[in-house]
Amino acid sequence: MRMPNQKTQNDYLIAYAFAKINLHLEILGLRNDGYHELSMVMQSIDLFDQLKMQSSRDDKITLSSSNVELTVGDDNLIVKAARLLREKSGKDNLGVNIDLIKNIPIGAGLAGGSTDAAATIVGLNRLWNLKYHIKELEEMAKEIGSDVPFCVSGGRQLCFGRGELLETVNNKQSNIGVILVKDPSIQISTPMAYKRYKDQYAESYLSRDVEFENKRNEARIFDWTTDKFINEKSNIQNDLQKTISPITPEVEKSLNVLKELPGSKLVSMSGSGPSCYALFSTYSQAKIVRKQNLSKFSDAGLSSWACSMKAIGVELKNELF
Ligand code: C5P
Repeated sequence: MRMPNQKTQNDYLIAYAFAKINLHLEILGLRNDGYHELSMVMQSIDLFDQLKMQSSRDDKITLSSSNVELTVGDDNLIVKAARLLREKSGKDNLGVNIDLIKNIPIGAGLAGGSTDAAATIVGLNRLWNLKYHIKELEEMAKEIGSDVPFCVSGGRQLCFGRGELLETVNNKQSNIGVILVKDPSIQISTPMAYKRYKDQYAESYLSRDVEFENKRNEARIFDWTTDKFINEKSNIQNDLQKTISPITPEVEKSLNVLKELPGSKLVSMSGSGPSCYALFSTYSQAKIVRKQNLSKFSDAGLSSWACSMKAIGVELKNELF
């Protein structure tokens, strides 16, 4: 017989929150709300944070973290996401303790904060038995940040608007391998990167809806549905790279190291940086090349990861911990 306060497996959940890279990031113009109008292709990769969730018998939402750099109060996106979901559900007695194991570097252009928020929404929907559809969760996620809706469903998607308007292009498993590098000594603020871009390029911004739609159609028309794009594209477009790379020697250095790797097909900065990646035909090739070049990365002062591409943004495991 179960005692009233005894926890069961249903009270515990581990949410795996996957990082993303940008396969395309094009800034089209400035919107009335102050955000930029974007045309992006985002791709989940298997670098992940873990959120260990335990439902609580009271109405407290608490967060602890392995990373001392992160605040765990009300300004943390995980806490914001948990509060938002509880508020939407109307069940103000729900509570949770979340322990964050942080692996995704902070301020890296990998959507680390956004994917943690997404994993919170998806995980608590299960833990609190709220039964929202994934599309409803994406809708709520917009209120937390522009990249959070993508991180809820993940995979490979076209992302328009401020990043929250999603069109899935590939949610099948991809074989492409990724080598990701980041100089651990620097972080880049996303608002700073967009502001700098605006200061430099505002004169070339588009402003009419029809122009935005034409640009979206250019992204839609390219075949992102299979792995073939890595042989068909000659380069990856990331507009923020144009403004960040010249003032960030760590990005220049990362791109140069990646370009020299044998078999690397396409090389780019991710998001607002400073992390950069190279794409390889297969994950096993990326793993081997990383291993063979570990001394190159460490000589350049770079952390490195070999990753595969993921067809989802968040994975839930009902595990006791
Ligand atoms: O939406 P989120 O809070 O993640 O955005 C962080 C910042 O990045 C915004 O405050 C804004 O400065 C910039 N941004 C932007 N246009 C977008 C997305 C983000 O200017 N589409």
